[in-house]
Amino acid sequence: APVEVKKICCIGAGYVGGPTCAVIPHIQVTIVDLNQQRIDAWNSDTLPIYEPGLDEVVKAARGKNLFFSTDVDKAIEEADLIFVSVNTPTKKSGIGAGFAADLKFLQLATRRIAEVAKSSKIVVEKSTVPCRTADAMRTILEANSKPGCHFDILSNPEFLAEGTAIEDLFGPDRVLIGSLQTEQGLSACQSLANVYANWVPRERILTVGLWSSELSKLAANAMLAQRISSVNALSAICEATGANIDEVAYAVGKDTRMGSKFLKASVGFGGSCFQKDILNLVYLSESLHLPEVAKYWRAVVEMNEYQKSRFANKVVNTLFNTITGKKIAILGWAFKKDTGDTRESPSITLANHFLTEKARIDIYDPQVTESQIWLDLTDYGDIPAEPIKPHVKISETVEEACKNAEAIVICTEWDEFKTLDWQKIYDNCPRPAFVFDGRLILDRKALTDIGFKVISIGTGD
Ligand code: NAD
Ligand code: UGA
Repeated sequence: APVEVKKICCIGAGYVGGPTCAVIPHIQVTIVDLNQQRIDAWNSDTLPIYEPGLDEVVKAARGKNLFFSTDVDKAIEEADLIFVSVNTPTKKSGIGAGFAADLKFLQLATRRIAEVAKSSKIVVEKSTVPCRTADAMRTILEANSKPGCHFDILSNPEFLAEGTAIEDLFGPDRVLIGSLQTEQGLSACQSLANVYANWVPRERILTVGLWSSELSKLAANAMLAQRISSVNALSAICEATGANIDEVAYAVGKDTRMGSKFLKASVGFGGSCFQKDILNLVYLSESLHLPEVAKYWRAVVEMNEYQKSRFANKVVNTLFNTITGKKIAILGWAFKKDTGDTRESPSITLANHFLTEKARIDIYDPQVTESQIWLDLTDYGDIPAEPIKPHVKISETVEEACKNAEAIVICTEWDEFKTLDWQKIYDNCPRPAFVFDGRLILDRKALTDIGFKVISIGTGD
């Protein structure tokens, strides 16, 4: 019979580990991390990540069935089931640099489990990983386990999107669990399914083989990103012809085989996962000697790079081919609305482009801290800050960021940008006053009536 899970440990208190475990009812969950600062923040009034609804969920459960700690060993020892939810970034050097996932954090966590565990555990791979990683985890665990300790490995990828994480977690489209198709494997799979069944309908809990589960995660992200690159590719055609990308996407999305979601043209997709996971799939395809497949998926990332640079160039070209010394307001630094996360945000690419062209930039974002913006602009210290400092300002309000700006560039689709006092902003801008809508959120007619020259993605001007 499946083991009843009474205590859960989650290794990695990040964007995934924190929210996913905070929604688990009744069962005692301890989320651990090596990063003391992060754990302190989880235990404070100011959580380390901004996510709508997260504060309420954490405050209701913290100290009751939800705990945050840096005592990794103790939490491992006590748990029946361990989620491994550590970061798996793209490798920066060595074999597969620039494509393959760096699995060092995952392997360190796995080794720790093997060293510390004194009883049998179900180990759940929650991080996004290349296919067959669960196999490697099993080998590490089995080679290092104590007598009498048995480890079952499950794959349980996470599909939440930032900004809607709590909603996604309480009502997921599906929960996916992969296991070995052995009696023992299937039994472990049931144990985890029973945890989710506390709040997810059974028919939404899908159980498959380990590799299918691992590949489904990469596939889902690749196909979602592919829709964005497709619509962004079409946006370039719209700009050249006078067609309107919102109208095209609407018409296309009405086909029930296609669906209307995830067809919003943009300045390009960002976020910590799409690019990383596609490059991972590209690397996997190459390693499996499938170069045509690798080329196909690589094009999704290349189109995204093209979209970002195309938009940046459009700003420069529109401002009469030079932005040297000109002030450009960047509205939005997060990679999407309702998050403070800036990983791979298109704003960073655009800002760098503008700085290379010797413009002055003024940045506003309602959730991103000034120190985070500096980390992004200096690539976490790899680029010296001093030379760019005179050209960068970070503002507390939109009005301040836009004052005297020769161009206002919308990079993130924050709702508040839709309802700004645009007349007042216009009054404080030199003429012609340009607004570049990288997210297609503004009322083009209203702004044009005020006097702005509005340039949007995917519309002929
Ligand atoms: P993150 O960087 O926010 O969090 C990872 C945490 O793991 C960090 O706090 C780090 O200190 C900790 N950690 C690393 N090694 C550790 C160790 N050995 N012991 C204890 N703690 C350790 O990353 P994230 O955004 O939460 O992503 C985690 C994984 O989930 C990645 O594989 C990612 O691809 C995947 N994923 C992310 C999202 C998302 O929306 N961010 C969604 C689905 C899947
Ligand atoms: C994405 C997936 O949606 C999640 O299912 C997945 O779990 C997650 O990646 C992950 O594996 O990390 P996330 O990156 O948080 O979630 O956010 P998305 O809503 O997917 O947005 C990603 C980027 O695409 C953002 O920059 C967003 O602005 C952009 N986007 C999204 C568009 O440009 N157009 C769209 O129509 C949708």
